[in-house]
Amino acid sequence: MILPRHAFFRGAIVPYSEARIGVLTHALHYGTGVFAGLRGYWSPDEQELFVFRPRDHFRRFLDSARLLRMELPYTEEHLIGALTELLRAELYREDCYIRPLAFYADETIGVRLHDLKPEVSIVAFPYGSYVANEEGVHAGISAWRRVDDNAIPARGKIAGSYVNSALAKSDAQAAGFDEAIILNEDGHVAEGTAANVFLVKNGVAITPGVTDNVLEGITRRTVVELLQRELRLSVVERSIDRSEIYLADEAFYCGTGIQVAAITRVDHRPIGSGRIGPTVTALRKLYFDIVRGRVPEYRRWCAPIYAGEKDFARPDRAEEAPAAGRGAPPLRVAR
Ligand SMILES: Cc1ncc(COP(=O)(O)O)c(C=O)c1O
Repeated sequence: MILPRHAFFRGAIVPYSEARIGVLTHALHYGTGVFAGLRGYWSPDEQELFVFRPRDHFRRFLDSARLLRMELPYTEEHLIGALTELLRAELYREDCYIRPLAFYADETIGVRLHDLKPEVSIVAFPYGSYVANEEGVHAGISAWRRVDDNAIPARGKIAGSYVNSALAKSDAQAAGFDEAIILNEDGHVAEGTAANVFLVKNGVAITPGVTDNVLEGITRRTVVELLQRELRLSVVERSIDRSEIYLADEAFYCGTGIQVAAITRVDHRPIGSGRIGPTVTALRKLYFDIVRGRVPEYRRWCAPIYAGEKDFARPDRAEEAPAAGRGAPPLRVAR
């Protein structure tokens, strides 16, 4: 992995080498951090870097922080501003991944969420695919169960709960699978290790509901809209039995990292034809056109980073575009 040159750290853009924490940091010991994962897509046609749905990602980031009782001095606008400054400092002309993190930074012992001070960092680095073959993922049903809302809330992107995902991912790969499908304690499908899961059966798309211990994915929300509006499929949110996956016509993962990836085998059983199907093929094409800003109707989800400030302020961009500097705390930029 190529390390970034800069980080947003303690309220400023600093050289990455200066974004350091001590070994006693609370979040390192107890997992008391929350994070987000966004993608920046380079458009060679427009010579522009588009960040996909930053406002939605930062809204969930702030919600996750609230679950850990963090009082952050930032709004979504501040964070979009900080991210814009960071990416302008990095000057990426390629696809990248963006990792905001809020963590309890006190160098102290004592497991709790109170009387601690949170800090926020953001880094971005060049990034390609998350799985080797997005058109043919072999998934294994994990023996690990998904964290429950009454243990660690799955709807929060909480650092400590990713031990659950890491256990499932490493065991899946050790067993020869590409990725895991994790079930809830009640035996119904929850999600992948860092992705939501959909099935397609008889022209209906099915995905677990938001009370099934899933992270409420931004890609999940995007895909639901595209399946309904563009591909004219009904989408049903309900609990899914394990054996329904084996009998599905198509199945796929979706998430910022994995994007939209066809699950073509589960536990060595072919899903449908055992090859990527028509719905996932069409959805992938649409998704990749949209994230690179090529579909005018969904341009509102794509925040351009290098365009001028006046461009951001255009009324038709106002809903989703970043607001670098607008209402943001002053930033020191060390280049
Ligand atoms: C556990 C988990 N589920 C689902 C997702 C997909 O979420 P999103 O589409 O917002 O990236 C992620 C990725 O962040 C994740 O970590």
